Amino acid sequence: MEREVKTYVLKRPTEEAVPRKLSIDYAAALNQQQLAAVTAGDGPSLVIAGAGSGKTRTLVYRVAYLIDSGVDPSNILLLTFTRKSSQEMLERVGDLIGTSSQRVCGGTFHSVANMLLRRNGRSVGIEPGFTILDRGDAEDLIALVRSQLGLNEKDKRFPRKGTIMEMISKSENTLRSLDEIILEEFSHFSDHSEDLGRLQKAYQAAKRQKQLLDYDDLLVMLRQLLLLDEAARARISSQYRYILVDEYQDTIRLQADVIRQLATT
Ligand SMILES: Nc1ncnc2c1ncn2[C@@H]1O[C@H](COP(=O)(O)OP(=O)(O)OP(=O)(O)O)[C@@H](O)[C@H]1O
Ligand SMILES: [Mg+2]
Repeated sequence: MEREVKTYVLKRPTEEAVPRKLSIDYAAALNQQQLAAVTAGDGPSLVIAGAGSGKTRTLVYRVAYLIDSGVDPSNILLLTFTRKSSQEMLERVGDLIGTSSQRVCGGTFHSVANMLLRRNGRSVGIEPGFTILDRGDAEDLIALVRSQLGLNEKDKRFPRKGTIMEMISKSENTLRSLDEIILEEFSHFSDHSEDLGRLQKAYQAAKRQKQLLDYDDLLVMLRQLLLLDEAARARISSQYRYILVDEYQDTIRLQADVIRQLATT
């Protein structure tokens, strides 16, 4: 006796064919260019517009639109220049779309770097319990290291701790050598270049040894982590699939570099 053959016809799920209903009338709330930016497809987009022309509003609606179109809010990273502005923007997203906005990761570059380093920093020697040095603490540590190296009494024209911090910070933020910075912007201290180089190294070593990170280190070490630990980079960039940055024109070289690393898939 012949066995009966059953035939199954497999169909693709029809869900995708039905467009998702959006909860906001974006076209009514935005002008044409804003609408185009808000509803743009995946991939990098840059909005350039004058003061008060609605860039931040565009970004707020963009976050709402992404969530509205089915993006998981926890896949969105919103970077701003002050803590207050990210809170405000996410509140506005909440007004548009509801409580799911609370799962968007928002903050300043430094707060996000802080969070990512506490979770992922071990591979670059950063323990989860590291301490952040504020500007005053950092300058005091520079003064301490300077006296340990015997560089304070030797010469009255040696730069003060605040100036040294400024030089080091500029070098970190622009990814240029301290020598270059001194030559270009602090040439009156160029006689001390060698000592300042030693001081910079000793300051770094003192921080590493005690698990201290100054504000610049938060970004510098995040950049290191993303460059050196491919597994962590892949993990972090797959978590933050949508990265939105307000006031991108104020983004410094180091921050832009970090964003580029995060956005690499
Ligand atoms: N399409 C629009 N319809 C109604 N109001 C709008 C529209 N676009 C912008 N606005 C309003 O204009 C004001 C300025 O917008 P917004 O703060 O987004 O601009 P911005 O470009 O980010 O400004 P800044 O350069 O100061 O950061 C806000 O009060 C905003 O609500
Ligand atoms: Mg704005």
